[in-house]
Amino acid sequence: MKSRVLLGVTGGIAAYKTPWLVRLLVESGMDVHVVMTRAATQFVTPLTLATVSGNRVEHDMWEKPFEPQIEHITLADQADVAVIAPATANIIGKIASGIADDLLTTMFMAVTCPALICPSMNVNMFRNPVVQRNLNRLRELGYHVLDPASGYLACGWVGEGRLPEPECIVEEIRGLLAPRDLEGENVLVTAGPTEEPLDPVRFLTNRSSGKMGVAVATRALARGAHVTLVAGPINIPVPQGLKHVPVRTAQEMHDRVMEVSSRMSVIIKAAAVADFRPAVESADKIKKEFAEPHIPLAPNPDILKALGARKRPDQILVGFAAETGDAVENGRKKLVSKNLDLLVVNDVTRPGAGFDYDTNIARFLHRSGLEEEFEIMPKRKVADLILDRVRDLRKNLKTGGER
Ligand code: CTP
Repeated sequence: MKSRVLLGVTGGIAAYKTPWLVRLLVESGMDVHVVMTRAATQFVTPLTLATVSGNRVEHDMWEKPFEPQIEHITLADQADVAVIAPATANIIGKIASGIADDLLTTMFMAVTCPALICPSMNVNMFRNPVVQRNLNRLRELGYHVLDPASGYLACGWVGEGRLPEPECIVEEIRGLLAPRDLEGENVLVTAGPTEEPLDPVRFLTNRSSGKMGVAVATRALARGAHVTLVAGPINIPVPQGLKHVPVRTAQEMHDRVMEVSSRMSVIIKAAAVADFRPAVESADKIKKEFAEPHIPLAPNPDILKALGARKRPDQILVGFAAETGDAVENGRKKLVSKNLDLLVVNDVTRPGAGFDYDTNIARFLHRSGLEEEFEIMPKRKVADLILDRVRDLRKNLKTGGER
């Protein structure tokens, strides 16, 4: 059955992003019911949101003739998740104070499902202690608050207050709808490339956007795990609520990972670590007339191998392998030599797999010998499949089963 999203839209300029938000939610298979405040209808029309959601949009309590069902209660009862985006200072203040004087506030007061508030306003309004106090009050009461992004604001100011991109809001909503089946797990994920400096302006690196690792971290967080993300230089948003440890080189990634690895119950190594670094890093930019045509290289530590060597019996270790040749045979060797429970193999030569794509074509090699091959699918879905296997492995370990 489709998850039902109750989306409240209030009167801020960021309301212009809501048709896109609704569209993304509908594309993700959700049934979206929009309720607008009167001010919101000045920024985006009910007709637009009705068209993209495929459902009637409500904005006036008194507009319709009497119906035996009490509409705001029915809408609230049937929702799996309730969201207000954008949420103005006004609605935040009203909800925090228990005011219910229109359809949206009345309905929001009656919801019992998880509720997400996405504030969006001028930076000085957002920083106003009254707004901050109201937001803290809402957090204490169990509302989820998605912090606004920073950047150019419609009022001309620069600072926090922007409504996060609809893709981020969808991810938050998915998180609230996800089963909390990884609660109690401490998950460490590595992501992205590493950069190995040659001089202050040049470096060696691996092709990697970090999308796969960030997808795993995002989904693990949504499913209730504590998540630490050790990531090389990446250019994609990382969700709030996880511990993000940015690193640059393989050696730094190794050191940060080793510092925390003993506290982790699950380690998923999606990073594309550079196997070699320039043996010498020049403090000054190397001038071309003095440059050697050869760059001597030194090996980097194999982080995954080190983790495999010190793996505790209760730890679950997942590796990735980007292959271009005989993916399965190479993968099996890696699974054994690095003492892994699961290896996710991508043949990066196949279209739709690997770098920069939002999709991946994965094959899972299990320690037990089991092999699974999947069709092309979004990286988020691959992430969920990996985490499903982790959950199953944990169940198995708890009941004394084999890995
Ligand atoms: N990895 C690592 N440290 C390294 C190299 C790789 O932790 N120095 C991890 C990656 O994060 C990935 C896995 O090892 O989970 C496999 O990486 P890959 O580059 O495919 O394999 P390598 O072991 O480096 O072997 P090769 O490059 O020879 O295929």
